[in-house]
Amino acid sequence: MVAWEPDLYRRFEAERSQPAKDLLARIELKTPSQIVDLGCGPATSTDVLADRYPDAEILGVDNSEAMLESARQRLPEARFEAHDIADWRPGATPDLIFANAALQWVPDHATLLPRLLGLLAPGGALAVQMPDNHDEPTHTLMREVAAEEPWAAAFGDPAALRSPLASASDYYDLLASRASRVDIWRTTYLHPMPSAQAIVDWMRGSHLKLFLERLEPAQRPAFVDRYAQAIEKAYPHRTDGRLLLAFPRLFFVAMR
Ligand SMILES: C[S@@+](CC[C@H](N)C(=O)[O-])C[C@H]1O[C@@H](n2cnc3c(N)ncnc32)[C@H](O)[C@@H]1O
Repeated sequence: MVAWEPDLYRRFEAERSQPAKDLLARIELKTPSQIVDLGCGPATSTDVLADRYPDAEILGVDNSEAMLESARQRLPEARFEAHDIADWRPGATPDLIFANAALQWVPDHATLLPRLLGLLAPGGALAVQMPDNHDEPTHTLMREVAAEEPWAAAFGDPAALRSPLASASDYYDLLASRASRVDIWRTTYLHPMPSAQAIVDWMRGSHLKLFLERLEPAQRPAFVDRYAQAIEKAYPHRTDGRLLLAFPRLFFVAMR
């Protein structure tokens, strides 16, 4: 397991917390009293929730001790607990379950999402955002490099490391029969990035972990260098010298 690195993760905090703010903007709950932030990380998303709902009791849940420690330092007024989202159950019934950029790490959404919806208080909301970038160069190039020698043997089929998200229509179908209302949308963010290395560093803080943990520690630097070369070619410099990172994301808010 390659550990989550809160400091590396927070390097792109502005870009990573914008989707949390956009998700929150679509939640109509006025005064939820119990809020849970699933996969809270270093409390970037929890902070956004605490700003909007200062009177709520907020619980952050994560299975990385490093992330939880960073979260507790950042937001001492919230409570943070170690659990795996797949089998987490709340103590108090939540009015809002929020999961920003977390559920893509948890398998079997066909079981997970109805279960989470069923944990809510009547009238409560399940609000989710997930990266939907399986077919972006950031991700296709990771799989292509993983299929090259000398790394191919460590990966088998690199495509099996993470399945693409289901379509928005499939998520709608899964939620609509169990929710009183579902809002669902997909957006592509376009992030101006200073360099190819910055794109690589962003990925090192999240999806690239999946690949690096298949390799011996001594193999990892060469894999990252080869990936960085591929990224450099795939993202041309714009007129201001920056690279434009396209980052599609899927969102939904399902009301119980
Ligand atoms: C990309 S970060 C998102 C952090 C935060 N929500 C944000 O908006 O910046 C994903 C987080 O999900 C956590 N995570 C991944 N799989 C998990 C699981 N099965 N159970 C609990 N937390 C998990 C990771 O430890 C990580 O902190």
